Amino acid sequence: MPISSDSAVAPAAADELTAERVEQILKTIPYPGLTRDLVSFGMVRHVSVCDRRVKVQLALRTSDDTIPARLTSAIETALGPLGTTSVAVEIVAPASTPAPNRHAPPDPWSDQVRLATVRHVIAVGAGKGGVGKSTVAVNIALALAREGLRAGLLDADIYGPSLPILLGIEDGASRVRMSADKHIEPLEAHGLPMISFGFFLGEGSPAIWRGPMVSKAVKQFARGVAWPALDVLVVDLPPGTGDVPLSLAQAVALSGAVIVTQPPRVAAAEARKAAEMFRALEVPVLGVVENMSGVFGRGAGRSVASELGVPFLGDIPFDPAVVDEGDRGTPTVVARPASATALAFDRIATSVAAALGWQRTDG
Ligand SMILES: Nc1ncnc2c1ncn2[C@@H]1O[C@H](COP(=O)(O)OP(=O)(O)OP(=O)(O)O)[C@@H](O)[C@H]1O
Ligand SMILES: [Mg+2]
Repeated sequence: MPISSDSAVAPAAADELTAERVEQILKTIPYPGLTRDLVSFGMVRHVSVCDRRVKVQLALRTSDDTIPARLTSAIETALGPLGTTSVAVEIVAPASTPAPNRHAPPDPWSDQVRLATVRHVIAVGAGKGGVGKSTVAVNIALALAREGLRAGLLDADIYGPSLPILLGIEDGASRVRMSADKHIEPLEAHGLPMISFGFFLGEGSPAIWRGPMVSKAVKQFARGVAWPALDVLVVDLPPGTGDVPLSLAQAVALSGAVIVTQPPRVAAAEARKAAEMFRALEVPVLGVVENMSGVFGRGAGRSVASELGVPFLGDIPFDPAVVDEGDRGTPTVVARPASATALAFDRIATSVAAALGWQRTDG
């Protein structure tokens, strides 16, 4: 709950102009272009109401300078029916806004940690489902390892974890162990340390979990694994711009995100949304990958990348053998290391490594 100066007593009636009512309405205003609202992003720092004049303070993280004006107008429009005489929206930088009173909500960013043994955590995301995020995440991690980097994989797709199948480690749930200090010990698949939400779900069905439950589970999971020393931890995300990427970014410092798209325009539109979400979370977008290039067309990845002003990391051809390799748990980079598809993953991994500051030293 955001801070309010004149609420916290009885619930406000639907048409009453109170700070509490204003907060309720702020919970219905999505961050521009995304599905999540301002309150769940942790952006609402203070609300006050005095003589029908409303002041809202937002702590904002964005590099898009059209966002403040768009937010202000969305808030004015939404509050209009309450009979406000003025609405002032103040935008402040998150770091410079210590909570103004003891009723302040905990800042969801305040307990973000840097994983002690991991240099870089990168997320592989996409707005759209089924574009090949998991396939790309797995093969990029293996390709990074082929380049000599210490890579690991975290399957944060709480709604549909697929890394156990893609890595041939479906018995993981029965093998996973906790360390003495209550950390999850990663398993190993094709030489990579990995862990999947799928090992812990049991009969639970996160599809019906409420946002705060998802958020708590993701935070615990992201911080609770005893990773060995890693150069890069690749995180496979569920599709969309919902609770999981938000909670992940609040839980651990991310070095960047890789956006996966397919050639069709609908996938490209969703990829843009995902990129905008990462920007709002101050996670640098390392670049865009076009997957299943060829059959559905070509070029969307490059054009999305140039629109966003981020590198195009490369395309991966549509290759029917990839499906079977995924089903068998032997990723393409391992199954056919010399194939055009594996080499495409290698090139992308090299670009990702370069974006994180590594350079090949072997010429
Ligand atoms: N380059 C490719 N060529 C052919 N098929 C591919 C390619 N990449 C992925 N696939 C197949 O597409 C399907 C979806 O891939 P994947 O599960 O990696 O997508 P996803 O984006 O992670 O999906 P979800 O949104 O469900 O998490 C799988 O059957 C996979 O084998
Ligand atoms: Mg997936």
